[in-house]
Amino acid sequence: MADAIGAHRVGIRLAPGNPLTGLVEADPAPVRRALVDALEPLGLAYLHLTDNSRYPALRDLRPRWTGTLIGNTEFGHPTTPEAGAALVEEGRADLVSFGRLFISNPDLPHRIATGAPLAEIDETRLCTNGPEGYTDYPAAPPR
Ligand SMILES: Cc1cc2nc3c(=O)[nH]c(=O)nc-3n(C[C@H](O)[C@H](O)[C@H](O)COP(=O)(O)O)c2cc1C
Repeated sequence: MADAIGAHRVGIRLAPGNPLTGLVEADPAPVRRALVDALEPLGLAYLHLTDNSRYPALRDLRPRWTGTLIGNTEFGHPTTPEAGAALVEEGRADLVSFGRLFISNPDLPHRIATGAPLAEIDETRLCTNGPEGYTDYPAAPPR
């Protein structure tokens, strides 16, 4: 892909040690270290990692990646603005992405900037057939 469209237009997302769907990895580190080492010289736009208490991917792989690193916190609960800020302040990531909170708060940047309360996501409505649970959360009323 980097050869075809330029490395600066290609990013990679890894979720090492993700236990969802019954996935079990005894030790996610060796394969991810080798993969990141192989990708490092390509100059990709970003590496995007989820952190994980079983395998602290951000801490382990950050020293091996000189490019832009995007992080999420552990999947057990949605990445919060406070936890995301801590990732950046501690140098564990350059940028933070928001998944579930962006679904339940379509105006998330505005809410963070203004301190408006954040709506919680109903995870029982995820991964169903259709837009319900993804596109039906309202923006915050004007304050
Ligand atoms: C409905 C849904 C589907 C997801 N699918 C994937 C996936 O296929 N692959 C992946 O690596 N992460 C997947 N994720 C994880 C997200 O990319 C993200 O890392 C995770 O939601 C953590 O961010 P958050 O705490 O802001 O939600 C999914 C998350 C949600 C909510």
